[in-house]
Amino acid sequence: MSESRIEKVRLGTGGPEVGVQGLGCMGMSFAYGPTDLDEARATLERALELGVTLYDTADAYGAGENERFIAPFVRAHRDEIVVATKFGLAIDPADRTKRIIRNDVPYIRQCVEGSLERLGVDEIDLYYMHRRDVNVPIEETVGVMAELVAEGKVKHLGLSEVTSGELRAAQAVHPIAAVQSEWSLFSRDIEAKVVPAAVELGVALVPYSPLGRGFLTGAFVNADRELGDDDFRRQQPRFTGENAAVNAALLEPVREIAEGRNASLGQIALAWVQQRAAVYGLPVVPIPGTRKRSRVEENAAATRLVLSEDELRSLEPIAGQVAGGRYADMTFTSAGRE
Ligand SMILES: NC(=O)c1ccc[n+]([C@@H]2O[C@H](COP(=O)([O-])OP(=O)(O)OC[C@H]3O[C@@H](n4cnc5c(N)ncnc54)[C@H](OP(=O)(O)O)[C@@H]3O)[C@@H](O)[C@H]2O)c1
Repeated sequence: MSESRIEKVRLGTGGPEVGVQGLGCMGMSFAYGPTDLDEARATLERALELGVTLYDTADAYGAGENERFIAPFVRAHRDEIVVATKFGLAIDPADRTKRIIRNDVPYIRQCVEGSLERLGVDEIDLYYMHRRDVNVPIEETVGVMAELVAEGKVKHLGLSEVTSGELRAAQAVHPIAAVQSEWSLFSRDIEAKVVPAAVELGVALVPYSPLGRGFLTGAFVNADRELGDDDFRRQQPRFTGENAAVNAALLEPVREIAEGRNASLGQIALAWVQQRAAVYGLPVVPIPGTRKRSRVEENAAATRLVLSEDELRSLEPIAGQVAGGRYADMTFTSAGRE
């Protein structure tokens, strides 16, 4: 395994410079079953050695638990890393097992204080709106986010799962460094409108779930049968029931390329999404999530893999054939509103 550090790239105009691949920290505390916390801590450190500098969390990941978990690492490496967190997914007071979306000003002000406190920092490097509350004008939401920048609580702004129109309206209020949305071999809806708008506006793309929540690595086929009761992937239509088998068969061209290159399936999936940067001409910083050192090494190595035109062509039809949506309720996504 080569020890050289991964390349760097600048997020949108005026945004921070980061390693060309980030680390998704969500699974360390939330959504994907039990975690070996010592190994997860070692994974954060290993990622940094490899040149991964963008660390992604959210206040919603385990109701603040994920921010608290990464806080000692963040503080120990304050000047070497870029910490990104998010607001916007609140606990539903009527049913505490459910989430509601909130983008109103008092809520955002309350959230930023909570994240600063849990992370133990004076300033959040990149602050995202996690989900869009359509009852609040985007200008109002980004307006208060801009105030947080002026007050020194936040350095850069990001938006997750926004439409192209919402991105344009937001950018008119304050520069947006990055849009974070799902983008992978299985999830390409943002290519129709959001990506062209980001290119036009000079905004970077931070693809989340670039490994299709692990499905694209071949690590599991059927969430119902293979994953724990509380694993979030059991709620996602494309990983369950008959869809799972249909979708597993779609990985054949990925497997063929992986075998020919002595790489893993996950590395081919990551190389594909990384290469969108060249295809569209914008900064792309995928944030694969892992809790294991060996996997962060494997994932970082994929930044050096460049797929040929023939290989890209053979992967092209996959997304159009995926059975089942990426969420049970797509109104939470930009595709549901675009
Ligand atoms: N903005 C949003 O709405 C949103 C939504 C979802 C996620 N996110 C962010 O995006 C990050 C990444 O997305 P994600 O975690 O959902 O999905 P992902 O990165 O596509 O996949 C993560 C899954 O893949 C496994 N994995 C990682 N590397 C692997 C490898 N080399 N070989 C085999 N399996 C591997 C992980 O397991 P192990 O941990 O056991 O390695 C985990 O189960 C999250 O951590 C979170 O920060 C944002």
